[in-house]
Amino acid sequence: MELSQAIRTRQSIRKYVSGAEIPDEHVKRMLEAAMMAPSACNSRPWKFVVVKSAEMKEKLATVHPFCGHLREASLAIVVCGLPEAQRRVAQGFWPQDCAAATENILLQARDLGYGTCWCGVYPREDRSEAVRSLLETDGVPFCLITVGVPNETPAVRGFYDEERVEYR
Ligand SMILES: Cc1cc2nc3c(=O)[nH]c(=O)nc-3n(C[C@H](O)[C@H](O)[C@H](O)COP(=O)(O)O)c2cc1C
Repeated sequence: MELSQAIRTRQSIRKYVSGAEIPDEHVKRMLEAAMMAPSACNSRPWKFVVVKSAEMKEKLATVHPFCGHLREASLAIVVCGLPEAQRRVAQGFWPQDCAAATENILLQARDLGYGTCWCGVYPREDRSEAVRSLLETDGVPFCLITVGVPNETPAVRGFYDEERVEYR
């Protein structure tokens, strides 16, 4: 799929084919895409937790108020920030770095034919701490991406808005 097409046809998917399996090489491709993202001073202050187990998906769907669709998704990729991994001049930029990695995952998944939904975690501290404690990770959970085979085709919601553009 052309990159332009992937960008323009990506949409949040919240209904998935239950029980669909995603091959490991596809998961790896998504993680590679994430780690190809730009980051401030090339600090790459991220780590990724891939959640496949039904038990952990259920626990995450319980602590996150807006990701019930995780129960049907094949897996979740939890993008975590590593603020301490940033060099001094890059400090504070880690959420932007994680956002860039997240978007790369969404687009790579779209290219592979999967649906995704970016579910926000950071900066909601209660959500971030609940997810961190469930996953027992030293990273700061930034977002949780549900990934699976789409079972819906919602209309694409993005559009070009000339009023949001200024030229100087
Ligand atoms: C920072 C962020 C947080 C989001 N959190 C959630 C969420 O918790 N649950 C959810 O179902 N969708 C979530 N979304 C998806 C948005 O609702 C969605 O991107 C938006 O409505 C536009 O629709 P589209 O992705 O289909 O273009 C989030 C998106 C972003 C960028």
